[in-house]
Amino acid sequence: MSPYTLADLDQRPDLVPNVLALFATTAQGSGHVVCGIPARMGLEPAAADLKGTLGVLLAMSGRRLAGALAICPYSEEQVTLWGPVIPDPREQPRVMPVLMQELRRALREGGFTSMRSQVDTRNRTLRAWMMAEGFGPWKDMHCYERELAPFRSADISDVQAAARADLDDAARILAECFPDSDHHRPNLVQRENEGYRHYVLRHEGRTVGAAAVQGGGRRSWLKLIGVPRSERGKHLAHRLLDGVLASEARLAHHAMGLEVLDDNRPAIALYEKTGFQRRWSASLLIAPV
Ligand SMILES: CC(C)(COP(=O)(O)OP(=O)(O)OC[C@H]1O[C@@H](n2cnc3c(N)ncnc32)[C@H](O)[C@@H]1OP(=O)(O)O)[C@@H](O)C(=O)NCCC(=O)NCCS
Repeated sequence: MSPYTLADLDQRPDLVPNVLALFATTAQGSGHVVCGIPARMGLEPAAADLKGTLGVLLAMSGRRLAGALAICPYSEEQVTLWGPVIPDPREQPRVMPVLMQELRRALREGGFTSMRSQVDTRNRTLRAWMMAEGFGPWKDMHCYERELAPFRSADISDVQAAARADLDDAARILAECFPDSDHHRPNLVQRENEGYRHYVLRHEGRTVGAAAVQGGGRRSWLKLIGVPRSERGKHLAHRLLDGVLASEARLAHHAMGLEVLDDNRPAIALYEKTGFQRRWSASLLIAPV
């Protein structure tokens, strides 16, 4: 019989500090577990991050927390995992199956069909654990960040925070640039109600670029930026991103972060030319439920 019992953080709110401490032990570096909530990557985990998850599974050995695994929303079919974090590697072979079995059961019940795990490329241990659990590599991604302070006085007259009347144009551009994303569904008004901010670039009387940003404070997060295919290569995205950075600086946010797939050369060129620096790289591992 397994020496571990399962619990859900919802039923054990007293364990929130323990769970945060557990996630925080994976300091940046070879052991760094890339957080399942991309916007929080590399930041100290906070109670609000746990609230933003779909659930946190706990493996208990008596009263001791032996492992934790947070399930983060990604799409209607897929979730992103944050963890598992198992502080004592000797316990991993026994704790891991307990958490993964319960995870799969919960995901099937919730109607999810697949899961993704963003594993720091330096974290060979976690990668090996995930591969043994049926995960396979999909693509590598990078997390970029830049400070916002130098942008406060920039000229941003052609970049506007999208008004209600601009949201349809912004949605059309984002739908063309990100055909697999559901960000524009059902509409951007709903996304704004969820806390997103949208920006548009106007050029010769037309809207020629759109961006979606979320979060703020220590770091706001560039979720999407796109320019229609027919307008690319004219430095429009560069112009738009400069405007987004300046606008976010005026909102007194400290830094902006983003994630980008390793094979998106134009986007990486854009980010590096606008002063973003690569902070972490992760392998995206995918598994069916
Ligand atoms: C990424 C994207 C926004 C770039 O738009 P764009 O208007 O063509 O980009 P810009 O012309 O402003 O180019 C930005 C910089 O990247 C460079 N660049 C652009 N495309 C490039 C490419 N294919 N290869 C190498 N460098 C490239 C440019 O030289 C430019 O630098 P500069 O202004 O200092 O000369 C656009 O390709 C797009 O909408 N892609 C689909 C959506 C997407 O993947 N978005 C990013 C992920 S969130």
